[in-house]
Amino acid sequence: MHEHTLALSAHLQDAVLACFGDAYAGIDPELRPATRPEFGHLQSNLPLRLAGPLGLPPRDIGARLIDAVDISTSSIHRLGGLATLELAGAGFINLTWSPDVLGAVVRDLLTDPHLGVSAPESPKRVVVDYSSPNVAKQMHVGHLRSTVIGDSLARVLTCAGHEVIRQNHLGDWGTQFGMLVEELLGEGLRDPEAVAGLDMAELLALYQRAKARFDEDPAFAGSARRRVVALQSGQPATLALWQALVDASMTEFDAVYSRLGVLLTDDDFDGESRYNPQLPRVVDDLDALGLLTESAGAQVVYPDGFTGRDGTPLPLIVRKADGGFGYAATDLATIRHRVDDLAVDRAVYVVDHRQSQHFEMVFAVARAAGWLPDSVEVQHIGFGTVLGPDGRPFKTRSGETVTLTALLDAAEEAAAASYAGPDVVRMVANAAVKYADLSNHLARDYVFDLARMSATTGETGPYLQYAHARVCSILGQAPQQTYAAGTPHHPAEQRLALELGGFAPVVAKVADTLEPHHLTAYLYGLSTAFTAFYESCPVLKAEGEVRQTRLGLCEATRQVLSEGLRLLGIEAPRRM
Ligand code: ARG
Repeated sequence: MHEHTLALSAHLQDAVLACFGDAYAGIDPELRPATRPEFGHLQSNLPLRLAGPLGLPPRDIGARLIDAVDISTSSIHRLGGLATLELAGAGFINLTWSPDVLGAVVRDLLTDPHLGVSAPESPKRVVVDYSSPNVAKQMHVGHLRSTVIGDSLARVLTCAGHEVIRQNHLGDWGTQFGMLVEELLGEGLRDPEAVAGLDMAELLALYQRAKARFDEDPAFAGSARRRVVALQSGQPATLALWQALVDASMTEFDAVYSRLGVLLTDDDFDGESRYNPQLPRVVDDLDALGLLTESAGAQVVYPDGFTGRDGTPLPLIVRKADGGFGYAATDLATIRHRVDDLAVDRAVYVVDHRQSQHFEMVFAVARAAGWLPDSVEVQHIGFGTVLGPDGRPFKTRSGETVTLTALLDAAEEAAAASYAGPDVVRMVANAAVKYADLSNHLARDYVFDLARMSATTGETGPYLQYAHARVCSILGQAPQQTYAAGTPHHPAEQRLALELGGFAPVVAKVADTLEPHHLTAYLYGLSTAFTAFYESCPVLKAEGEVRQTRLGLCEATRQVLSEGLRLLGIEAPRRM
């Protein structure tokens, strides 16, 4: 039906050209779902929008357009029997699909395991860089957003027919490891196996002790710096303790991933440490290309078009004055790996919007160096901050950032108020958190309001799960159906069929825009259409063809809801 909508849009555009000339070429009729059933299925306000520029009454414009669509022989053939157009109100064009078209939508869904999602013309190989927490630190709400958004994007891109390479760019390298290893040794913790068994609380406490000593004790700070050198030169005992710290953290991260039910596995870890051997070459190559400048002892690049508030050019620091390589050098090496070795067509970085300048500059330098050909698209998908009930960045009472685990605990507590059983509670809590995270425009900050997020009514994850469970319960009472969908005649049946036809287009849209909120909004619309259908159209009590048609609608709804929820990383329960 999406093709039909596009065709119809094109017919209206042709009609505009035929009636009013080239000045209005390419105008979008903006066909939108009708706001009320009596307005048909789709509406366009094109006549109203043209009235000003043309200086004509909107209804006259509408009448001429509808005539033009009807008399143009090529269009009448293709539109024949598909839909009727009507002039309405102050100057709207209402479109009503024929019931047969809507029946075909449902029939197509029921026979297509891909639910209408077709393979792209040119499938892309896409890196999705997401989650990416830091070793020996807690995952916080920012990492939650990256994990949830990145996971959904990875699923949608895969569903849309692309090849996805997940990369969890773990912060597992840097000067803090000198301090951490030195602290371990100072405390007599020399056994890597014991260190690898530390849990998150112990790792965090270690980090805090090390940091306190580093700040207070110059002798300790000195040995910590020497320890960084030992680590970088691969001294075995130092390397073993570092690896143990990384392993301990990875175990903790894996526990969070399995709790959240995200796709990330150990194979997706792509730690910063892996790029360490490539960093000198990054600097040398930039130097050979003449891109490198020295600034206060540091090696920097000034990419074109980046200036500070005072108008002076902004440097991207690749090598610090103390000789250490920075975060930017690692990201440059990472881009080279992704382009040269992984041969990607597109790389998507799902990271807090506060890092947007970092990524813009890294991308600009990589392009200038010729490491990032124009054929490869790179995008930083930034996202806003999670706010507490007071509308300020979410902090604990003592002013610390809220850990991911604390946040998931709180969500489970909220879910436990309405649901019983640990599995159900976890499933509902994850749905509440993920839906809230994905349903906002990514760039927008949002308030972590558990009561609202966990409600079973309104635009929430649990509401969608509930709709899914309800449709499963109906189908479960009508066993061994073949779901031979017939023609929907009731307005609520038609509206549901219409919504179902929107699934494939919305998947394509999210794969293209990387904005998951289109999918959450779509599934919410589908669930409300299903609820309205369920309230006005008895299914099990109906008979004959009507019953068949309604069961077919239920089954198609079940499939689309379950697949849609899966793409959001949300479980679709058969009962709740
Ligand atoms: N570890 C970083 C942080 O927690 C995020 C890394 C994102 N990915 C990247 N390629 N830089 O802020």
